[in-house]
Amino acid sequence: MSLQVKRLAHGLGAEVTGIDLNEDVPAPTIADVRKAWLQHQVLVFPGQDVAPERHIAFSRQFGEIDPVSFGPRFRHPDHPEIMLISNKPQKGQPSQTRNQGRQWHSDTSFSLRPATGSLLHCLELPDVGGDTMFTNMYMAYDALSEVMKKMLEDLWAVHDSTNTKDARKRDPEVLAELRKINPLVAQPVVRTHPETGRKALYVSEGQTTHIVGMTDEESAAILGFLFEHAVQPEFIYRHRWSQHDIVMWDNRCAMHLAVRYDMTKTRHMHRTTLKGEPSGYLYQPQ
Ligand code: OGA
Ligand code: MN
Repeated sequence: MSLQVKRLAHGLGAEVTGIDLNEDVPAPTIADVRKAWLQHQVLVFPGQDVAPERHIAFSRQFGEIDPVSFGPRFRHPDHPEIMLISNKPQKGQPSQTRNQGRQWHSDTSFSLRPATGSLLHCLELPDVGGDTMFTNMYMAYDALSEVMKKMLEDLWAVHDSTNTKDARKRDPEVLAELRKINPLVAQPVVRTHPETGRKALYVSEGQTTHIVGMTDEESAAILGFLFEHAVQPEFIYRHRWSQHDIVMWDNRCAMHLAVRYDMTKTRHMHRTTLKGEPSGYLYQPQ
């Protein structure tokens, strides 16, 4: 297979063609994909009409799949490795993931093995809308002043799986389950990417609640600045989906957001999540 990689934006992202995920992808091609992923942070593979088994098999080439962080209720009924990101009612109930990711976040940053990558496969989508935005957290870090970088260097911040506006609206039973599966975790505010060695900002509006040791006011001011700083237009790629795109992103150095759309139209996606390196510690509220 000969891979073609074409950049999609100034901020981050590249389109990858010359690969067929319905075939077994040879090891040297996987190595090239991995290299492109580390370089571009978000890879778009268009036209990959693959069954869940192939999606899972391709994902496994990049690490262990994490089926647990959101609990059994979000899983594909036949494939526990797949999380359903969908607005289709499930078992007669509104889907609990219909508003997944409406705020900027990095997948499973609230866990002690936060996701390296996520691979999202688009199965059904509205005619318009339902885009996903990505922002480059290396760029966000690099654009800070040296004084700010120094201040942030040794700070930790608390990540909470139930913090997003969407999560807070979930059924109380689901919220309690999420809290139990994912106790509060502190993560470094500036994270060194274990593979590239580059520093990236690692706080998000969706999941970061406060900076450890700061007063509420201090924390809100610093985090508010960082949340806004991190999502400047030049850092961003906005993906307009086509059916059977698979998009693979690196959560260690990019955040993403699911843009709101007309929810009367069906949008149905399958996600695999790759378990990351150990990071952070269990946070005990004072
Ligand atoms: C996700 C997510 C974004 C989207 O799958 O992790 O945040 O656009 N989804 O559905
Ligand atoms: Mn997400």
